Amino acid sequence: MDTTEYKTVLAVFTLFNVLVICWCAPQRFCEPGHEALGRCNNSPAEEKPVCSEMNLGYCNDLDYSRTIFPNILGQRSRHEVESGAEYLLLSVVHGLLNGECSPDIRLLGCSVLAPRCQDLPSPAPVKSCRSTCEAVRKGCGHAFEGIDMAWPYFLDCDRFFASEQEGCHDPLAPLRARQEVAFSNLSPDEPSTIIQFTYHSNAQMYSVLKRTAAKCSHISKTYSIGRSTEGKDLLAIEFTDNPGGHELLEPEIKLVGNMHGNEVLGRQLLLYLAQYLCSEYLLGNQRIQTLVNTTRVHILPSMNPDGYELAAAEVEASNDPEQQPHYNQEGHELNGWTVGRTNAQNLDLNRNFPDLTSILYRNRRIKGFRTDHIPIPDSYWFGKVASETYAVMKWIRSVPFVQSASLHGGELVISYPFDFSRHLHEERMFSPTPDEQAFKQLARTYADSHASMADNNTERCGASFIRSGGIINGALWYSFPGGMSDFNYLHTNCLEITVELGCDKFPSEEELYPEWLRNKEALLSFMESVHRGIKGVVKDEEGYGIKGASISVRGIRKDVTTAEDGDYWRLMNSGTHIITASAKGYSKVSKRIYLPAHMDKPGRVDFVLKKVPVQPVGPDYHLFLSSSLDTYDRFDPYNQFQRYGRAEPGEPGEPREPGMGGEPGMGGERQEKPWWWNYFTQAGVSAPTWLLRN
Ligand SMILES: *[C@@H]1O[C@H](CO)[C@@H](O)[C@H](O)[C@H]1NC(C)=O
Ligand SMILES: *[C@@H]1O[C@H](CO)[C@@H](O)[C@H](O)[C@H]1NC(C)=O
Ligand SMILES: [Zn+2]
Repeated sequence: MDTTEYKTVLAVFTLFNVLVICWCAPQRFCEPGHEALGRCNNSPAEEKPVCSEMNLGYCNDLDYSRTIFPNILGQRSRHEVESGAEYLLLSVVHGLLNGECSPDIRLLGCSVLAPRCQDLPSPAPVKSCRSTCEAVRKGCGHAFEGIDMAWPYFLDCDRFFASEQEGCHDPLAPLRARQEVAFSNLSPDEPSTIIQFTYHSNAQMYSVLKRTAAKCSHISKTYSIGRSTEGKDLLAIEFTDNPGGHELLEPEIKLVGNMHGNEVLGRQLLLYLAQYLCSEYLLGNQRIQTLVNTTRVHILPSMNPDGYELAAAEVEASNDPEQQPHYNQEGHELNGWTVGRTNAQNLDLNRNFPDLTSILYRNRRIKGFRTDHIPIPDSYWFGKVASETYAVMKWIRSVPFVQSASLHGGELVISYPFDFSRHLHEERMFSPTPDEQAFKQLARTYADSHASMADNNTERCGASFIRSGGIINGALWYSFPGGMSDFNYLHTNCLEITVELGCDKFPSEEELYPEWLRNKEALLSFMESVHRGIKGVVKDEEGYGIKGASISVRGIRKDVTTAEDGDYWRLMNSGTHIITASAKGYSKVSKRIYLPAHMDKPGRVDFVLKKVPVQPVGPDYHLFLSSSLDTYDRFDPYNQFQRYGRAEPGEPGEPREPGMGGEPGMGGERQEKPWWWNYFTQAGVSAPTWLLRN
């Protein structure tokens, strides 16, 4: 089989469907694999091995044409091989592993199921080389781990393979020869990223992320920012040239999906994006390499995995005819619009952040009150703080994010802060931040690169954003407090936009690939747009970076602060600006700069600050301090906040592997099978329990 057959992404699914429909397995005499283990005592009398023509569709590209029955596993006929789970696995392994280790795994397996036949002195199988098996296992073991599948028993290098001395066959030798030729005339335009455009359960999501990070371990890493209410990992993946830490002057961005559990398209797009970044980087795509080499991109596909589970179950039930009557009696709405929006405590996460916008509005007339790094008031902690919200707050305080996008659904528009109206009784009121220009440009970047968001004649989901070209100020659309974007802006340096991806919050599976195509360029352009405005380092006279120095731009009442090593980023539009750097205990320095309209990288503006004796605290400053005991640096005053009391007894706060094992908090009543399990059970073959781990 030629690998180009797999070049289109959809082919993989078609393959599964065909298999599931036409796989008709006869009753087997014996459990798969047991023959080889000598556990089958009901097999007919010993048969004489015979060489015969190889007629196995998925193995016909081996470099020999005659095989032997019984084969190395004791399967006695072509028919018996074809109805075994081993062969089924080989026929779907390409899709299961997302094209990784293909066709190596298949050929290796084929060489066990259909070994080369040696006629003389009497018909006998030629085993494949142990060294080949070991090399494949080394390179592909992680791919199996990534989908929580055990290494197949029949690829046990010790049992079914032979050494060079014993005489062995290398099933991959012709492949290597072909690859060398292929490399020399590889066309750069070939679509070569293989992505499964289906919905992913939480377990599948974790496995895609981990497998992607394993495949691209030099530019990628997964990490957990915390747990959901029900204890599921909030797993993020980062892409950058040196994953694991911040690099001086390298801007950091984040993409967050599925904050509302029933708004699922963003979650899928981010999973596709992660795989796309990895594959394209490996394939040498210059644009992707430049992005990853110069940026640190953090992707959190699901901020609300608990809500997703509810929403997905609801949608599944509504598609299941047997469940329909029940649901109709109950009078449920089956549109997937509301179930699962909130987290497991019924909290809307986009209303659950500290409402700093009100604090700003109350104080904005006070001289010197600035629109940045507003502390979280103690009163916030008296309310219900979702563990998802808490995890995200901790995350955005610990990474110097420059910009961010939160992906939602239900409309087709980009909205940007403020989301909370500056007038208490005006539900729809233009409420700009001091960074209106930068936000507008950021929103434009996404909307204009999206296939239809900025179109005049795109059908909208109710509201009309035609006049504004598909972008809108949040509070002008509708006002709400406690949103994540306002919090990002008022508490940190980060500028976050809200991307409403389309009317349908839970589109059908066929829409996923077209939606990826509509959004791919927009996502890439958005990420690249972080390289605008200015960046630089603030240092003292000895050349040490100053952490927490303020960078202010005249005319914009919002400072950004420097990161750990004194580096900063300031998104802003073209023109002449006066920039001032200041830090406690140092003199101020101002510079006048000119930013041309078109720049492909940010202007570099560094500062050196002189130490000065610390000034006594001025009266204005004092006023603020006495009006509130809150300070920016104080985070979560109730450090032992009860939310951690929810952890399972015996393992408080201990990191747990996400995945297949019974989900925490569910009493372990149901052992969840991996997502690929259905491929084997639906096909009617006896269940390959040997593919389950542990
Ligand atoms: C990105 O960085 C890698 C590793 O340093 C380098 O090999 C590659 O050429 C770079 N690509 C681009 C486009 O800068
Ligand atoms: C859409 O309409 C606006 C205002 O009516 C107009 O300025 C803009 O050029 C139109 N865009 C396109 C692509 O037709
Ligand atoms: Zn939403």
